[in-house]
Amino acid sequence: MKCSAISSNVGVEVKDIDLNDAISKQDQQTLQSLLTTTGLLVIRKQNISPEKLIEFTNLFGEIRAYTRSNFELNNYPEILVLSNIVKDGRGVGSPVSGRVWHLDGHYLDEIPKATLLAMKIKQEEGGNTCFSNIQAAWANLPDRVAAMAENLNIIISRVKSREYNYPERGPATEEEIKEWPDVTHPILLSHPDTDRIGLGAGGNVPWDIESLSKSEALPLITFLQEWSVRPEFTYEHIWQEGDILVWDNWTVLHKASPYSGERLLHRTTAF
Ligand SMILES: [Fe+2]
Repeated sequence: MKCSAISSNVGVEVKDIDLNDAISKQDQQTLQSLLTTTGLLVIRKQNISPEKLIEFTNLFGEIRAYTRSNFELNNYPEILVLSNIVKDGRGVGSPVSGRVWHLDGHYLDEIPKATLLAMKIKQEEGGNTCFSNIQAAWANLPDRVAAMAENLNIIISRVKSREYNYPERGPATEEEIKEWPDVTHPILLSHPDTDRIGLGAGGNVPWDIESLSKSEALPLITFLQEWSVRPEFTYEHIWQEGDILVWDNWTVLHKASPYSGERLLHRTTAF
């Protein structure tokens, strides 16, 4: 197994590994440590079964599906299918998701540790996925802004995020509003494994900040969110069929970008 950096602040490409083979204890530890230190593993040219993807996911935490979905892979409820492919008049996967910068499951009390995506079919143009290192963003934040952000909590509202993430679905229903209580998280996210601080201001939704008025919160949250994704903290992944990406959801924000043509990915999440 060999590794090489892919950008100045995010990620590493792992080479000379076939995930169909057993991974030695030492390589397992290297992968876990590279994930927490670089935020993203890129592993190309893999062709693995759903069972192997589940086994590999469990290396980074406990696999758990947290989105209620009609697009689980048959017989594998832990695997979510993301795809625009339509078969017999029905979409085989969730066609769009993650179009704005976000942490996966930021709206949960327990933010997931890692997300995995496996590109199974790719015939599209575009569709790159972007990542930004929020620990680098925090480390480089000007002191006067850092002092303002310390000890503050943001209020993540899944209801409010709907119009940013899924404008085509219309506003949240009464039932969804009842099911989706707001959650609060510190803006300074302390990584559960390393205690390293990341700038957890979220992506594009202008979240409220606990104990601040709207007029105080909006300029601050806008600044922090724009700072979080400055080009020097980011990496843009151009997909190839067979790619497997693992990202540390406490270390990087991510977002999808538009594409045309067919594609299909399998997604899993580890807590
Ligand atoms: Fe996502």
